[in-house]
Amino acid sequence: MPFNFDTPPDRSHSDSLKWHRYAGRDILPLWVADMDFAAPPPVLSALQQRIEHGVFGYAYHRESLLDAVVSGIARDHHWQIEPEWIVWLPGVVQGFNLACRLAGEPGDGVLTFPPIYPPMLLAPGNHERRLVRSDLILAGGRWEYDWDGLDALLETQSANLLLLCNPHNPVGRVWSREELTRLAWHAEKNDWLICSDDIHCGLVIDPTQRYIPIASLDEAVAQRSITLMAPSKTWNIPALGCAFAVIPNASLRKQYLATGRGLLPDVNVLGLVAAEAAYREGGAWRAALLPYLRSNAQRVHEVINSLPGLSCTDIEATYLAWIDCRGLNQPNPQKYLELHGVGLSDGRDFGMDGFVRLNFGCSRKLLDEALRRISLAALAA
Ligand SMILES: Cc1ncc(COP(=O)(O)O)c(C=O)c1O
Repeated sequence: MPFNFDTPPDRSHSDSLKWHRYAGRDILPLWVADMDFAAPPPVLSALQQRIEHGVFGYAYHRESLLDAVVSGIARDHHWQIEPEWIVWLPGVVQGFNLACRLAGEPGDGVLTFPPIYPPMLLAPGNHERRLVRSDLILAGGRWEYDWDGLDALLETQSANLLLLCNPHNPVGRVWSREELTRLAWHAEKNDWLICSDDIHCGLVIDPTQRYIPIASLDEAVAQRSITLMAPSKTWNIPALGCAFAVIPNASLRKQYLATGRGLLPDVNVLGLVAAEAAYREGGAWRAALLPYLRSNAQRVHEVINSLPGLSCTDIEATYLAWIDCRGLNQPNPQKYLELHGVGLSDGRDFGMDGFVRLNFGCSRKLLDEALRRISLAALAA
């Protein structure tokens, strides 16, 4: 393999948030969503070259960056966007917060689907909007939308914004064309704005699945959509703070820009440089990463489902596993597993009790040791 994911740099004494939490304690950090791997070589050399230049004045997004992003999205996701649809953002979290601020008025509803990335649960409240939740359900060993529940919910609750996560953190689903079409139908019927957080779209690890941006379904959906993307998860550069919204509708784009005016910092120049290199030249690294993650995912699936009290579904995308711990009969599974030497994310933060999220974006060796500790914990429960 041309890239070595088996022996990543040691982060235990670095400025890593993930590793800092358990510094000096024998607890393996498999929580916050970054990977332990170094960024792709073309990204590193583009950054080095830019640093060599030595001047860090205000930056703008060059034609070559726009070209790399537009052609990268067409190449990797079969979606043809126009450069002028792109609005640069310092992060995806800011992106969906702006959407909440833009949609409706204080008191209006924002519909989303827990378990979900915690800042999406908090975003409506940040802007005096009401969180309207339609929890995903486990059906036939797969996480799905609760269509009947959603119909019932919409009898009594209204919303102005549909906040989607595709692929979905933490359950790892890549939403199908049928599922997206059904959501889009609801959006048309109820006149919802759609904001889709597609930050994990480059990380589809199940070769039978294909990521489809909801805005690519048809022109009507595109006109009501804000699609949030970033190079950060796929190429492991989240701390470089570079993301973007794709907004085909010119007047919506104008409103979105106006909503953020004066609130958001410009994107860091190093983030822009890294983004260009990632979209243009990060393909070989990504092509090597995906099978590594797939193999880690299979290992997690195999071990977890062999243990008493634990289970997880197939992971179609992301480097995150959503583990059902309800059978452990522990009041706080995250704490329980931490006591056994593994630091995971607490499902309650994602809006669902009895679950933990495990980040397998790490070396196989570290993952195997974490799974060994989890096995001991499960057997001791
Ligand atoms: C679904 C999702 N959206 C957004 C983010 C964070 O995005 P950013 O760092 O660009 O704000 C994450 C990070 O884990 C995520 O999983």
